[in-house]
Amino acid sequence: MIPDKVIEQILDKTDIVEIVSSYLPLKKAGQNFKARCPFHEEKTPSFMISPSKQIYHCFGCGAGGNVISFLMKHEHMDFIEAIKLLADKTGIALPQATSGMREKDSLAEKIYGANNIACNFYRENLAGEQGRDAEQYFKARGIDSDTARRFGLGYAEDSWQGLINYCKQKGVGTDLLEKAGLILQKEGKENWYDRFRNRVIFPIFDWRNRILGFGARSLDNALPKYINSPETYIYRKGQHLYGLNFSKEHIKKQNYVIIVEGYFDLILPFQHDIKNLVATLGTALTVEQIRLIKRFTKNVIMIYDSDKAGESATLRGLDLLLAEDMNVRMAVLPKGNDPDSFVRKEGKPGFTKVLRESKDIFDYKLGILTAKYKKDQPRAKARIVEEMLPTLAKIENAVLKSGYLKKMSEELSIDEESIRIELRKLKPGQSRVTPVSQAAPEKKSTASLAEITILAIVLEDSRCIAKIEKELGFSNISTKHVVDIFQKISELSKEGRKINPSYLISCFENKEIEEIISQAMSFDQDGWEKDKVLEDCCRHIKKNNLISLLGSMQFKIKEAENASDTHRLKRLLSEYNDLIREYGK
Ligand code: UTP
Ligand code: MN
Repeated sequence: MIPDKVIEQILDKTDIVEIVSSYLPLKKAGQNFKARCPFHEEKTPSFMISPSKQIYHCFGCGAGGNVISFLMKHEHMDFIEAIKLLADKTGIALPQATSGMREKDSLAEKIYGANNIACNFYRENLAGEQGRDAEQYFKARGIDSDTARRFGLGYAEDSWQGLINYCKQKGVGTDLLEKAGLILQKEGKENWYDRFRNRVIFPIFDWRNRILGFGARSLDNALPKYINSPETYIYRKGQHLYGLNFSKEHIKKQNYVIIVEGYFDLILPFQHDIKNLVATLGTALTVEQIRLIKRFTKNVIMIYDSDKAGESATLRGLDLLLAEDMNVRMAVLPKGNDPDSFVRKEGKPGFTKVLRESKDIFDYKLGILTAKYKKDQPRAKARIVEEMLPTLAKIENAVLKSGYLKKMSEELSIDEESIRIELRKLKPGQSRVTPVSQAAPEKKSTASLAEITILAIVLEDSRCIAKIEKELGFSNISTKHVVDIFQKISELSKEGRKINPSYLISCFENKEIEEIISQAMSFDQDGWEKDKVLEDCCRHIKKNNLISLLGSMQFKIKEAENASDTHRLKRLLSEYNDLIREYGK
């Protein structure tokens, strides 16, 4: 546990502008700084950093928070790591036993707990009588029992309530299992049932060994081949890499990482003593994943079966890696192989040979394109150049870049200068590094504008909180996170504390709350008549609540009419009239 006092001190001494500017190029814009948002793709900067408020906020995707949340999101640190970094920089000493987590996020802890229990259940299933076929399956795929144990492999028995009953005995209810994505409910039915049945199970760990979810493969080739955990409170796909918890030390030591696709493609090479790998689990590589790798190495070998190698998703992944300034090579397996089947046939020597023969990414991409278009026709040449340019533009190293230019001009028999001209023509937006994932921008916060506005005012002047509590009442606010924030502010101001938005953010460690606060902080309140705005907003919120109440009353009235329940109808109509009168005020 880090005392709140220390966190407050660290935040006081830290300058968010200094920290953020070490990761992004910032431009001064009035009192604030602007940058292109690192969390979504954009051409014009809408990412704002406020030195006076010590927060950041993106008007485009809604991302926002304080310096701690920036480090957590941008550098994939956990809370403690971010604090440690800032403590180092500011020279503030942390209390000794800080290696443990600050166990504030109890929902996350509960889900990790449920996943651990589920993992035990699947492992017991595999060891038991019901797990014979699964055991045989792993064996047939060449996985020995040591490896199975190391990777926590299991089996979900062929029953609808096996996990539910097991967890019930351990005191874990369906509420939590549902949040962990482990059980499902038929539409309109009460009964819960297990998501994974009669499948072999792969627990998905994060790089710190916590179980985020599971992948489950059918034993025969029944479709779908894999069923995976859905995204949950703790599991965001594209933010993690399978196997990193097992491989990170090996990656560091060997100073490169091999990127594969599937569970088996990671586990089988691992068993054959090739241990510096991660798996994307079949999805396109994201920037978040690349940054995760970057903490351990800057060198990457992608390994694909030859059938998939030329797919545009792969090529996009390559450009993304270059944009993040990684050194990338591409290894190609003989047709019809994946890393799993190949290493079983050829062992470590064969696999190492393929790695040794890996190609520089630029040559590789050029090779793919020249095979795809007929390079002796001018139109085809132009096409190849066009597709190569973004890759070329992402290479920062001038010597390397010039070498590639030369190579390309020779390969395509085009003079270098023409390629240079085309390169210069690239719009800045295309040639600049775009460190973003393919994923759409995340949702903006769902709090209404009126609620955010009130919050903005309270953050400037916390004395208003009492007024809001009295005149509006927190129960009238529909966004739970906003209520939580108000309650915290109310609590703090009753203790006579000054409200510091950056500190407030770190009281919650909740992404939505960070975004709501940063959005509120981004309002420019110059020229606001505070009391009037506050009143308007409160009225607006009350009115909206009334409207939705009236809507549901109408529904109930219809029901009572249909049921010819005159008694109830009468009561409802009278309530309805009262509300209408209220609304008129
Ligand atoms: P592959 O189809 O290459 O499967 O998908 P695989 O890993 O080689 O599996 P085997 O060898 O046939 O048993 C690569 C990865 O894509 C994800 C899985 O993570 C898989 O390991 N995937 C694939 C799914 O999530 N669902 C699917 O239906 C298929
Ligand atoms: Mn496979």
